[in-house]
Amino acid sequence: MADTKLMRALRGEAQDVPPAWMMRQAGRYLPEYKATRAKAGDFLSLCYTPDLAAEVTLQPIRRFGFDAAILFADILLVPQALGMDLWFVTGEGPRLEPVDDHRKAALLKPAEDVHETLSPVYETVKILARELPRDVPLIGFAGAPWTVATYMIAGKGTPDQGPAHAFKDGDTAAFEMLMARVTDATIEYLSAQVEAGAQVVKVFDSWAGSLTGDDFTRYCLEPAKKITAALKARHPDLPVIVFPRGAGERYVGFHEATGADCVAIDQDTDSAWAAANVQTGGCVQGNLSPKHMVTGGQALIDETLRVREAFRGGPHVFNLGHGITPDADPDNVALMLETLRG
Ligand code: CP3
Repeated sequence: MADTKLMRALRGEAQDVPPAWMMRQAGRYLPEYKATRAKAGDFLSLCYTPDLAAEVTLQPIRRFGFDAAILFADILLVPQALGMDLWFVTGEGPRLEPVDDHRKAALLKPAEDVHETLSPVYETVKILARELPRDVPLIGFAGAPWTVATYMIAGKGTPDQGPAHAFKDGDTAAFEMLMARVTDATIEYLSAQVEAGAQVVKVFDSWAGSLTGDDFTRYCLEPAKKITAALKARHPDLPVIVFPRGAGERYVGFHEATGADCVAIDQDTDSAWAAANVQTGGCVQGNLSPKHMVTGGQALIDETLRVREAFRGGPHVFNLGHGITPDADPDNVALMLETLRG
């Protein structure tokens, strides 16, 4: 495996100029993405057409020279592979057939069966393993069980994850059965991505911030630990990045509690605080606000340098605190990288 900037950071090395990539780096802010998506017809066809999914993964690497590529796919392919209908409503987002009672949870397919639906994603990974420059590692990914479950239970995105909380509190046994199934499917899916050539994996827990107290421990921390341990048992040298977005104080000790190599920090977390309290446990990733990719200018330059300086003393992967938005200006992305690299 090539000795790249990303791998050095994930192994714990501090670097003057950290490796950089961006969540949602392939997406609608890029005209070339929109063109390829139009060719595919719709978003899910793009995810399941290996040549085109590989193409959009490569686009931001060609245009900007990021230090890592992230596989083009979506976290909601896993519920689909477990047997749920999935579709995307333009301008609104994902829709699924809700799994909101014990009977529906019991109807989900076994975890080992997900490969049938997800095999085109592994083909995308194989293409990328051949076509990416040697110094650009490929990051595979999946959603964390809680975040995926919030969409499965509500059948769509929700501002406060209310339906998932109601199911968790109302029928805890059925909720835990659902969580266990998604956890096992996630291990299968990520392991297959690694076998196909992904060099790093990332687990997105975008709604971790709505879990508090014991729920955070049981439904964010413990699944992250289980997934990390299972992947490392199968692939001992595999670096794992986890993103418990909105974890706040619960970011402290997250590396130790889960065994993850890198913890991604959102933009609502103070960088200096994270350096003092989270980076002490290992590599961190983050945490420039995605809004600067829209607004640019001197604030973008100042904030890029501030984030770099805050984390300079330890292992750091430069990134945004959440995904880049469709209204972002590609020139601002180039300015961020120029500023970061001096
Ligand atoms: O980062 C990358 O470039 C890789 C690809 C990637 C996508 N989604 C492509 C995508 C990744 C890593 C994701 C993760 C994802 N998907 C998350 C976790 C990260 C986060 O943002 O919190 C979540 C919650 C989803 C679910 C999802 N997918 C939603 C809610 C939506 C609709 C909102 C939106 O942005 O349109 C999607 C669609 C989606 N996933 C798009 C892309 C590029 C836009 C689809 C389009 O082209 O119309």
